[in-house]
Amino acid sequence: MDPNHRPETMERITTKAQADAFIAEQIKALKDQIGDNKVLLALSGGVDSSVVAALLIRAIGKNLTCVHVNHGLLRKGEPEQVIKVFREQLGANLIYVDAVDRFLNRLAGVSDPEQKRKIIGDEFIKVFAEEARKLDGIKFLGQGTIYPDILESKGIKSHHNVGGLPEDLNFELVEPVKLLFKDEVRVVGAALGLPESMVQRQPFPGPGLGVRCVGAITRDRLEAVRESDAILREEFAKAGLAGKVWQYFTIVPDFRSTGITDGKRTYDWPVVIRAINTKDAIAATVEELPWDLMKKLTQRITTEVKGVNRVLMDLTPKPSATIEWE
Ligand code: XMP
Repeated sequence: MDPNHRPETMERITTKAQADAFIAEQIKALKDQIGDNKVLLALSGGVDSSVVAALLIRAIGKNLTCVHVNHGLLRKGEPEQVIKVFREQLGANLIYVDAVDRFLNRLAGVSDPEQKRKIIGDEFIKVFAEEARKLDGIKFLGQGTIYPDILESKGIKSHHNVGGLPEDLNFELVEPVKLLFKDEVRVVGAALGLPESMVQRQPFPGPGLGVRCVGAITRDRLEAVRESDAILREEFAKAGLAGKVWQYFTIVPDFRSTGITDGKRTYDWPVVIRAINTKDAIAATVEELPWDLMKKLTQRITTEVKGVNRVLMDLTPKPSATIEWE
């Protein structure tokens, strides 16, 4: 039997009882596969790696080491949430790496989108490999591969994101959710007790806010992306849109325009709001937002986010635009 093929007879996991059965089965399989050996996992805080971490913690406890790399391109509150949930609540062996300066220094002055992605992916591997080399006796590498990643080998994850580890680090793979679809991973995550905000997270690109800070990333514009994104997420949650809209985020382009605040002329950045719906990210439609919400967002972003004097809405479906701006 091909271990990468989902059997026709495998039921879709939609209920807590099915998720519990899957969890029990996987814990046993993980214990059998891993024994007393040690596993390393890159934990981004995304749905897939979080579910794999939670499963491995149940199966092998402290024999799992999680590495969370903060590359400075995460959303507001994400590194803190990873530490809170995994280290404090689940008692994981978690290494937190503050690599913000390393990433931002390497990205300084780089404006080409693919070059930015390459640097982020490459630096990620470097940081992760450095941490891996500091540890003794690791035999396995945990991975949040899911079934769509196997089905579309040219899928988004493999297409855009990080390559493999250097040859001296050749670990055996542990991929407990590789036969699951995304909605199933979410059901399993909820059954494992992971917080709703982690399990129901909207898709977030590997290069993170880096592709939403258009052109060469600067710290001030990156902060404007992060702060405006936090406001957008807060207002979407209040308006009951958080679980309904497929992806919503803000972008800060690399041009400025004139404005006026307290009688003084400003020359600041705009924030662009993008909210889209799609089934498969290949084509997308724009969510029609209530006018009151757009006014509230404009008011909050222009008063609360430093260096921003204008808010715009991207009304373009995919095609002709891509979902991200880079
Ligand atoms: P585009 O912009 O190509 O995006 O219409 C389609 C979907 O893919 C996500 N995306 C990425 N995901 N690494 C990722 O993991 C990337 O480099 C990347 N670029 C785009 C995007 O957020 C959307 O959901």
